[in-house]
Amino acid sequence: MIPSYRVINFNAGPATLPPEVLKEASDAIIDYAGTGTSILSIPHRGKHFDAILEESKALVKELCELDDDYEVLWMQGGGRLQFAMVPMNFLGKDDTAGYIDSGRWSADAIKNALHYGKVNVLSSSKDENYTQLPEWPKKIPNDLAYLHITTNNTIHGTQLKKIPSTDVPLIADLSSDIFSRQIKYNRFSLFYAVAQKNIGPAGATLVVVKKKMLKRVARTLPPILDYRQHVDKNSVLNTPPVFSIYVSLLTLRWIKAKGIAAIEAENERKAALLYDEIKRNALFSSAIKKSDRSTMNVCFETVNEETVLLFVKYAEENGIINIKGHRKRGGLRVSLYNGISLSDVQYLVAVMQQFEQNLNKR
Ligand SMILES: Cc1ncc(COP(=O)(O)O)c(C=O)c1O
Repeated sequence: MIPSYRVINFNAGPATLPPEVLKEASDAIIDYAGTGTSILSIPHRGKHFDAILEESKALVKELCELDDDYEVLWMQGGGRLQFAMVPMNFLGKDDTAGYIDSGRWSADAIKNALHYGKVNVLSSSKDENYTQLPEWPKKIPNDLAYLHITTNNTIHGTQLKKIPSTDVPLIADLSSDIFSRQIKYNRFSLFYAVAQKNIGPAGATLVVVKKKMLKRVARTLPPILDYRQHVDKNSVLNTPPVFSIYVSLLTLRWIKAKGIAAIEAENERKAALLYDEIKRNALFSSAIKKSDRSTMNVCFETVNEETVLLFVKYAEENGIINIKGHRKRGGLRVSLYNGISLSDVQYLVAVMQQFEQNLNKR
Protein backbone atom coordinates (compact mmCIF):
# COMPACT_ATOMS: atom_id res chain seq x y z
CA MET A 1 0.00 0.00 0.00
CA ILE A 2 1.10 3.58 -0.55
CA PRO A 3 2.56 5.26 2.53
CA SER A 4 0.06 7.84 3.70
CA TYR A 5 2.38 10.79 3.07
CA ARG A 6 3.17 10.17 -0.56
CA VAL A 7 2.14 8.96 -3.96
CA ILE A 8 4.25 6.47 -5.89
CA ASN A 9 6.24 8.47 -8.38
CA PHE A 10 7.67 6.50 -11.30
CA ASN A 11 9.22 9.55 -12.99
CA ALA A 12 12.15 8.97 -15.35
CA GLY A 13 14.11 11.78 -13.72
CA PRO A 14 14.23 13.67 -11.45
CA ALA A 15 13.40 10.36 -9.83
CA THR A 16 12.14 9.11 -6.50
CA LEU A 17 14.88 8.93 -3.88
CA PRO A 18 14.91 6.54 -0.90
CA PRO A 19 12.80 7.88 2.01
CA GLU A 20 15.77 7.62 4.42
CA VAL A 21 17.80 9.91 2.14
CA LEU A 22 14.95 12.43 1.91
CA LYS A 23 14.57 12.55 5.69
CA GLU A 24 18.26 13.16 6.32
CA ALA A 25 18.43 15.74 3.51
CA SER A 26 15.44 17.61 4.88
CA ASP A 27 16.97 17.72 8.39
CA ALA A 28 20.18 19.11 6.87
CA ILE A 29 18.26 21.95 5.26
CA ILE A 30 17.45 23.26 8.73
CA ASP A 31 20.66 22.34 10.57
CA TYR A 32 23.56 20.65 8.85
CA ALA A 33 25.29 18.15 11.18
CA GLY A 34 24.76 20.30 14.27
CA THR A 35 26.50 23.32 12.72
CA GLY A 36 23.49 25.53 13.39
CA THR A 37 23.34 26.47 9.73
CA SER A 38 21.64 25.00 6.67
CA ILE A 39 23.42 22.75 4.19
CA LEU A 40 22.17 25.31 1.64
CA SER A 41 24.44 27.94 3.18
CA ILE A 42 27.72 26.20 3.97
CA PRO A 43 30.79 27.55 2.10
CA HIS A 44 31.86 25.45 -0.86
CA ARG A 45 35.50 26.04 0.09
CA GLY A 46 35.43 24.97 3.69
CA LYS A 47 35.94 21.94 5.89
CA HIS A 48 32.33 20.72 5.82
CA PHE A 49 32.04 20.64 2.05
CA ASP A 50 35.59 19.30 1.71
CA ALA A 51 34.53 16.33 3.82
CA ILE A 52 31.40 15.80 1.69
CA LEU A 53 33.49 15.87 -1.49
CA GLU A 54 36.14 13.50 -0.20
CA GLU A 55 33.69 10.95 1.18
CA SER A 56 31.49 11.00 -1.93
CA LYS A 57 34.48 10.55 -4.25
CA ALA A 58 35.86 7.70 -2.16
CA LEU A 59 32.44 5.99 -2.14
CA VAL A 60 32.11 6.27 -5.93
CA LYS A 61 35.50 4.59 -6.33
CA GLU A 62 34.63 1.91 -3.81
CA LEU A 63 31.22 1.13 -5.34
CA CYS A 64 32.70 1.06 -8.85
CA GLU A 65 35.73 -0.95 -7.65
CA LEU A 66 38.15 1.52 -9.18
CA ASP A 67 41.73 2.19 -8.19
CA ASP A 68 43.76 5.38 -8.18
CA ASP A 69 44.02 5.39 -11.98
CA TYR A 70 40.71 7.24 -11.95
CA GLU A 71 39.60 10.76 -11.00
CA VAL A 72 36.07 11.40 -9.73
CA LEU A 73 34.46 14.74 -10.55
CA TRP A 74 31.20 16.41 -9.66
CA MET A 75 30.16 18.71 -12.46
CA GLN A 76 27.11 20.65 -13.68
CA GLY A 77 25.37 21.00 -17.05
CA GLY A 78 23.77 17.54 -17.07
CA GLY A 79 24.13 14.90 -19.74
CA ARG A 80 24.04 17.47 -22.49
CA LEU A 81 27.20 19.20 -21.31
CA GLN A 82 28.96 15.82 -21.33
CA PHE A 83 27.72 15.20 -24.89
CA ALA A 84 29.68 18.34 -25.83
CA MET A 85 32.65 18.10 -23.44
CA VAL A 86 33.62 14.57 -24.44
CA PRO A 87 34.34 15.49 -28.09
CA MET A 88 35.61 18.96 -27.15
CA ASN A 89 38.28 17.36 -25.00
CA PHE A 90 39.06 14.14 -26.84
CA LEU A 91 38.14 14.55 -30.51
CA GLY A 92 40.64 16.55 -32.55
CA LYS A 93 39.30 18.14 -35.73
CA ASP A 94 40.94 15.54 -37.97
CA ASP A 95 40.17 12.61 -35.65
CA THR A 96 37.29 10.17 -35.81
CA ALA A 97 35.22 8.99 -32.86
CA GLY A 98 33.01 5.90 -32.91
CA TYR A 99 29.46 6.11 -31.61
CA ILE A 100 26.83 3.44 -31.09
CA ASP A 101 23.41 4.92 -31.81
CA SER A 102 21.04 3.16 -29.44
CA GLY A 103 18.49 5.90 -28.82
CA ARG A 104 17.55 9.53 -28.71
CA TRP A 105 20.28 10.43 -26.18
CA SER A 106 23.03 8.71 -28.17
CA ALA A 107 21.81 10.53 -31.27
CA ASP A 108 22.12 13.81 -29.38
CA ALA A 109 25.66 12.91 -28.32
CA ILE A 110 26.52 12.21 -31.98
CA LYS A 111 25.17 15.60 -33.09
CA ASN A 112 27.39 17.29 -30.51
CA ALA A 113 30.50 15.39 -31.60
CA LEU A 114 30.01 16.49 -35.21
CA HIS A 115 30.84 20.06 -34.14
CA TYR A 116 34.40 19.01 -33.26
CA GLY A 117 35.59 16.18 -35.50
CA LYS A 118 34.50 13.19 -37.54
CA VAL A 119 32.03 10.60 -36.36
CA ASN A 120 31.73 6.99 -37.41
CA VAL A 121 28.36 5.60 -36.33
CA LEU A 122 29.37 1.98 -36.04
CA SER A 123 25.91 0.64 -35.41
CA SER A 124 22.38 2.00 -35.03
CA SER A 125 18.90 0.69 -34.27
CA LYS A 126 17.13 3.83 -35.45
CA ASP A 127 15.45 1.91 -38.29
CA GLU A 128 13.89 -0.36 -35.67
CA ASN A 129 12.63 2.70 -33.76
CA TYR A 130 15.17 1.79 -31.09
CA THR A 131 13.00 -1.13 -29.92
CA GLN A 132 16.19 -3.17 -29.66
CA LEU A 133 19.87 -2.49 -29.18
CA PRO A 134 22.01 -2.09 -32.27
CA GLU A 135 24.18 -5.10 -33.03
CA TRP A 136 27.62 -4.81 -31.53
CA PRO A 137 29.99 -3.90 -34.42
CA LYS A 138 31.98 -6.81 -35.81
CA LYS A 139 35.04 -4.64 -36.21
CA ILE A 140 36.01 -1.53 -34.30
CA PRO A 141 38.66 0.53 -36.14
CA ASN A 142 41.62 0.82 -33.80
CA ASP A 143 42.41 4.41 -34.76
CA LEU A 144 39.24 5.84 -33.20
CA ALA A 145 39.81 8.63 -30.67
CA TYR A 146 37.22 6.83 -28.51
CA LEU A 147 34.04 4.79 -28.70
CA HIS A 148 30.91 6.24 -27.06
CA ILE A 149 28.05 4.07 -25.82
CA THR A 150 24.86 4.59 -23.81
CA THR A 151 24.32 1.71 -21.39
CA ASN A 152 20.62 2.30 -20.76
CA ASN A 153 18.26 4.01 -23.16
CA THR A 154 15.91 5.88 -20.86
CA ILE A 155 13.39 6.89 -23.52
CA HIS A 156 13.18 3.55 -25.33
CA GLY A 157 13.58 1.02 -22.52
CA THR A 158 16.61 -0.96 -23.71
CA GLN A 159 19.77 -1.77 -21.78
CA LEU A 160 23.18 -3.14 -22.68
CA LYS A 161 23.58 -6.19 -20.46
CA LYS A 162 27.34 -6.73 -20.72
CA ILE A 163 29.96 -4.04 -21.05
CA PRO A 164 32.24 -5.07 -23.91
CA SER A 165 35.97 -4.66 -23.79
CA THR A 166 37.53 -2.63 -26.59
CA ASP A 167 41.00 -1.68 -27.77
CA VAL A 168 40.02 1.97 -28.12
CA PRO A 169 39.08 4.16 -25.12
CA LEU A 170 35.50 3.36 -24.15
CA ILE A 171 33.32 6.28 -22.99
CA ALA A 172 29.86 5.69 -21.60
CA ASP A 173 26.72 7.56 -20.68
CA LEU A 174 25.54 5.64 -17.61
CA SER A 175 22.96 8.23 -16.61
CA SER A 176 20.03 5.90 -16.18
CA ASP A 177 21.56 2.71 -14.83
CA ILE A 178 24.62 3.59 -12.80
CA PHE A 179 24.69 1.77 -9.42
CA SER A 180 21.67 -0.33 -10.45
CA ARG A 181 23.71 -3.47 -11.11
CA GLN A 182 27.22 -4.85 -11.07
CA ILE A 183 29.16 -3.40 -13.99
CA LYS A 184 32.81 -3.67 -14.94
CA TYR A 185 33.47 0.04 -14.53
CA ASN A 186 37.16 -0.41 -15.21
CA ARG A 187 36.34 -1.09 -18.87
CA PHE A 188 35.67 2.64 -19.28
CA SER A 189 38.19 5.40 -19.90
CA LEU A 190 35.48 7.87 -18.92
CA PHE A 191 31.89 7.53 -17.78
CA TYR A 192 29.31 10.05 -16.73
CA ALA A 193 25.88 10.00 -15.15
CA VAL A 194 23.43 12.75 -14.35
CA ALA A 195 22.49 12.65 -10.67
CA GLN A 196 18.73 12.85 -11.06
CA LYS A 197 18.01 9.15 -11.54
CA ASN A 198 19.99 6.76 -9.32
CA ILE A 199 22.23 9.22 -7.49
CA GLY A 200 20.44 12.28 -6.13
CA PRO A 201 18.63 15.46 -7.13
CA ALA A 202 19.16 17.23 -10.47
CA GLY A 203 22.05 19.70 -10.53
CA ALA A 204 25.11 17.49 -10.21
CA THR A 205 26.64 15.23 -12.83
CA LEU A 206 29.09 12.52 -11.89
CA VAL A 207 32.10 12.15 -14.20
CA VAL A 208 34.77 9.49 -13.68
CA VAL A 209 37.82 9.70 -15.89
CA LYS A 210 40.99 7.68 -16.23
CA LYS A 211 44.07 9.78 -15.52
CA LYS A 212 45.70 8.50 -18.72
CA MET A 213 42.80 9.86 -20.76
CA LEU A 214 43.50 13.38 -19.51
CA LYS A 215 46.78 13.33 -21.44
CA ARG A 216 44.78 13.11 -24.67
CA VAL A 217 43.03 16.48 -24.49
CA ALA A 218 42.85 17.57 -28.12
CA ARG A 219 42.56 21.37 -28.03
CA THR A 220 42.89 24.46 -25.88
CA LEU A 221 39.64 25.07 -24.04
CA PRO A 222 38.20 27.61 -21.62
CA PRO A 223 38.86 26.23 -18.10
CA ILE A 224 35.22 25.45 -17.36
CA LEU A 225 35.09 23.09 -20.37
CA ASP A 226 38.42 21.37 -19.74
CA TYR A 227 38.29 18.18 -17.63
CA ARG A 228 41.89 18.75 -16.47
CA GLN A 229 40.93 22.03 -14.83
CA HIS A 230 38.09 20.39 -12.92
CA VAL A 231 40.53 17.73 -11.71
CA ASP A 232 43.10 20.36 -10.71
CA LYS A 233 40.51 22.34 -8.80
CA ASN A 234 39.00 19.24 -7.14
CA SER A 235 35.47 19.89 -8.50
CA VAL A 236 35.36 23.42 -7.08
CA LEU A 237 36.53 25.37 -10.12
CA ASN A 238 33.29 27.32 -9.75
CA THR A 239 30.59 27.17 -7.08
CA PRO A 240 29.31 23.59 -7.25
CA PRO A 241 25.74 22.42 -6.55
CA VAL A 242 26.48 21.80 -2.88
CA PHE A 243 23.06 20.45 -1.93
CA SER A 244 22.81 18.12 -4.89
CA ILE A 245 26.26 16.70 -4.13
CA TYR A 246 25.39 16.32 -0.44
CA VAL A 247 22.18 14.41 -1.20
CA SER A 248 24.16 12.30 -3.68
CA LEU A 249 26.52 11.42 -0.83
CA LEU A 250 23.53 10.34 1.30
CA THR A 251 22.35 8.11 -1.57
CA LEU A 252 25.82 6.65 -2.04
CA ARG A 253 25.90 5.72 1.67
CA TRP A 254 22.46 4.13 1.25
CA ILE A 255 23.70 2.15 -1.79
CA LYS A 256 26.75 0.98 0.11
CA ALA A 257 24.66 -0.17 3.07
CA LYS A 258 22.35 -2.19 0.79
CA GLY A 259 25.14 -3.49 -1.43
CA ILE A 260 25.06 -3.38 -5.24
CA ALA A 261 24.53 -7.15 -5.56
CA ALA A 262 21.36 -6.93 -3.42
CA ILE A 263 20.20 -3.83 -5.31
CA GLU A 264 20.71 -5.64 -8.61
CA ALA A 265 18.73 -8.68 -7.42
CA GLU A 266 15.87 -6.43 -6.28
CA ASN A 267 15.91 -4.48 -9.54
CA GLU A 268 15.63 -7.72 -11.49
CA ARG A 269 12.68 -8.85 -9.39
CA LYS A 270 10.94 -5.49 -9.79
CA ALA A 271 11.37 -5.51 -13.57
CA ALA A 272 10.35 -9.19 -13.95
CA LEU A 273 7.17 -8.56 -11.97
CA LEU A 274 6.16 -5.69 -14.24
CA TYR A 275 7.15 -7.35 -17.53
CA ASP A 276 5.20 -10.47 -16.51
CA GLU A 277 2.10 -8.41 -15.87
CA ILE A 278 2.47 -6.58 -19.20
CA LYS A 279 2.59 -9.98 -20.90
CA ARG A 280 -0.36 -11.39 -18.95
CA ASN A 281 -2.64 -8.36 -19.09
CA ALA A 282 -4.64 -8.16 -22.34
CA LEU A 283 -4.58 -4.34 -22.26
CA PHE A 284 -0.80 -3.97 -22.41
CA SER A 285 2.06 -5.12 -24.63
CA SER A 286 5.78 -4.52 -25.05
CA ALA A 287 7.47 -3.92 -28.39
CA ILE A 288 10.98 -4.19 -26.93
CA LYS A 289 13.19 -7.15 -27.85
CA LYS A 290 13.11 -9.39 -24.79
CA SER A 291 16.86 -9.83 -24.37
CA ASP A 292 17.40 -6.04 -24.51
CA ARG A 293 14.70 -4.97 -22.04
CA SER A 294 15.77 -2.47 -19.45
CA THR A 295 15.39 -3.11 -15.73
CA MET A 296 15.32 0.65 -15.17
CA ASN A 297 12.81 2.07 -17.67
CA VAL A 298 9.97 -0.21 -18.63
CA CYS A 299 8.40 1.18 -21.83
CA PHE A 300 5.18 -0.41 -23.03
CA GLU A 301 2.08 0.05 -25.12
CA THR A 302 -1.67 -0.26 -24.63
CA VAL A 303 -4.27 -1.75 -26.97
CA ASN A 304 -5.11 1.75 -28.23
CA GLU A 305 -4.29 5.42 -27.60
CA GLU A 306 -7.40 5.98 -25.52
CA THR A 307 -6.30 3.30 -23.06
CA VAL A 308 -3.05 5.18 -22.36
CA LEU A 309 -5.04 8.17 -21.14
CA LEU A 310 -7.56 6.05 -19.27
CA PHE A 311 -4.84 4.12 -17.51
CA VAL A 312 -2.81 7.23 -16.63
CA LYS A 313 -5.97 8.72 -15.09
CA TYR A 314 -6.86 5.51 -13.25
CA ALA A 315 -3.32 5.21 -11.91
CA GLU A 316 -3.38 8.81 -10.69
CA GLU A 317 -6.68 8.21 -8.89
CA ASN A 318 -4.87 5.36 -7.15
CA GLY A 319 -1.82 7.35 -6.10
CA ILE A 320 0.54 6.47 -8.98
CA ILE A 321 2.06 9.31 -11.00
CA ASN A 322 4.39 10.03 -13.94
CA ILE A 323 3.96 6.90 -16.02
CA LYS A 324 3.35 8.50 -19.42
CA GLY A 325 5.92 7.61 -22.07
CA HIS A 326 8.43 10.22 -23.24
CA ARG A 327 6.79 12.77 -25.52
CA LYS A 328 8.91 11.58 -28.47
CA ARG A 329 7.83 7.97 -27.98
CA GLY A 330 4.32 7.83 -26.53
CA GLY A 331 2.84 4.83 -24.70
CA LEU A 332 3.73 4.29 -21.06
CA ARG A 333 7.02 4.32 -19.19
CA VAL A 334 7.53 3.17 -15.64
CA SER A 335 10.97 3.96 -14.24
CA LEU A 336 12.20 1.49 -11.63
CA TYR A 337 15.32 3.20 -10.31
CA ASN A 338 16.87 2.15 -7.01
CA GLY A 339 14.57 4.44 -4.98
CA ILE A 340 11.50 2.43 -6.08
CA SER A 341 10.79 -0.53 -3.81
CA LEU A 342 9.50 -3.97 -4.69
CA SER A 343 6.25 -3.18 -2.85
CA ASP A 344 5.80 -0.05 -5.03
CA VAL A 345 5.90 -2.32 -8.11
CA GLN A 346 3.60 -4.90 -6.50
CA TYR A 347 1.12 -2.11 -5.87
CA LEU A 348 1.36 -0.91 -9.51
CA VAL A 349 0.76 -4.45 -10.77
CA ALA A 350 -2.33 -4.75 -8.55
CA VAL A 351 -3.62 -1.45 -10.00
CA MET A 352 -3.02 -2.76 -13.56
CA GLN A 353 -5.04 -5.86 -12.70
CA GLN A 354 -7.90 -3.85 -11.18
CA PHE A 355 -7.91 -1.62 -14.26
CA GLU A 356 -8.29 -4.65 -16.53
CA GLN A 357 -11.14 -6.05 -14.42
CA ASN A 358 -12.93 -2.68 -14.37
CA LEU A 359 -12.69 -2.28 -18.17
CA ASN A 360 -13.97 -5.82 -18.68
CA LYS A 361 -17.02 -5.02 -16.53
CA ARG A 362 -18.00 -2.09 -18.77
C1 LIG B 1 20.80 8.38 -20.76
C2 LIG B 1 20.62 9.87 -20.67
N1 LIG B 1 21.62 10.67 -21.09
C3 LIG B 1 21.50 12.01 -21.05
C4 LIG B 1 20.36 12.63 -20.58
C5 LIG B 1 20.25 14.13 -20.59
O1 LIG B 1 20.41 14.64 -19.34
P1 LIG B 1 20.20 16.20 -19.06
O2 LIG B 1 18.73 16.47 -19.18
O3 LIG B 1 20.70 16.37 -17.67
O4 LIG B 1 21.00 16.94 -20.07
C6 LIG B 1 19.30 11.84 -20.11
C7 LIG B 1 18.09 12.47 -19.58
O5 LIG B 1 17.15 11.86 -19.17
C8 LIG B 1 19.44 10.42 -20.16
O6 LIG B 1 18.46 9.63 -19.75
